[in-house]
Amino acid sequence: APDIPVANVKAHLTQFQNIASANGGNRAHGRPGYLASLNYVKGLLDAAGYTTTVQSFTYNAATGYNLIADWPGGDPNDVLMTGAHLDGVTAGPGINDNGSGSAAILETALEVSRQGLQPTKHLRFAWWGAEELGLRGSQYYVNNLPAAERTKIKGYLNFDMVGSPNAGYFVYDGDNSDGTGAGPGPAGSAQIEQVIQSYFTGIGVATRGTDFDGRSDYGPFIAVGIPAGGTFTGAEGIKSAAQASLWGGTAGQAFDPCYHRACDTTANINDTALDRNTDAIAHSVWTIATSTPPV
Ligand code: PHE
Ligand code: ZN
Ligand code: ZN
Ligand code: CA
Ligand code: ZN
Repeated sequence: APDIPVANVKAHLTQFQNIASANGGNRAHGRPGYLASLNYVKGLLDAAGYTTTVQSFTYNAATGYNLIADWPGGDPNDVLMTGAHLDGVTAGPGINDNGSGSAAILETALEVSRQGLQPTKHLRFAWWGAEELGLRGSQYYVNNLPAAERTKIKGYLNFDMVGSPNAGYFVYDGDNSDGTGAGPGPAGSAQIEQVIQSYFTGIGVATRGTDFDGRSDYGPFIAVGIPAGGTFTGAEGIKSAAQASLWGGTAGQAFDPCYHRACDTTANINDTALDRNTDAIAHSVWTIATSTPPV
């Protein structure tokens, strides 16, 4: 899989920051900064050869939007989806949550185009609206997916907060191998976890599991039995002493002290974490999309 230049990912974060600054300081559902963010992402994908669809929905008396981008080709009955929520809270520009995941999957999608990748699987990328109000966009998408389309989706990869300043390296625990917290994901989630894990093993970075606790957009997918996975670098949780010796950073401090705050700006990003997670996304998309079923 290619090494995605983290500078490209950071350039998208600068654009999200500028969009927030020009639109009242945020990119939240129902606010102009949300649609401006969507149009920024859509313009780049359209120019790269993606087939894009904007799906509208209503929540809290405001219109929300999902952006769906299909890479032409691949087996239409064997779809790999990769998603991130594009909305933020109203308190700030939402650069780590979730400009980071949005920009990382965007740059992965653009790399697919630059390389002219012709995978076995059909690739579909999604930027979700209104996650912060209860996974509204991803839930709307899954609810409105005809059963025949649903069964074509063989996996869903989710990226929500992948550049936390005091980062941890968490991978969704598809098989519940730690035996605690939420149960395992649908069959196939363990294989996705292994593919992601293999990237981090290859660069010598330890990971820990994080549960499918329903706090991000994989929720509606696993609820209908679609295998899922992804990475996460931590939100309001406090880094333990053991985690600080594993990963560096500051014990006793939140993984993201600016979580849902005005200070979630471009300064609130750990470039190393963003780089590693973006490369993990590319590794996973390349590996899974060019493999044969069941993964
Ligand atoms: N979904 C949460 C948010 O956007 C963040 C989060 C992601 C929490 C993944 C836990 C796990 O605020
Ligand atoms: Zn959030
Ligand atoms: Zn989030
Ligand atoms: Ca677990
Ligand atoms: Zn890199």
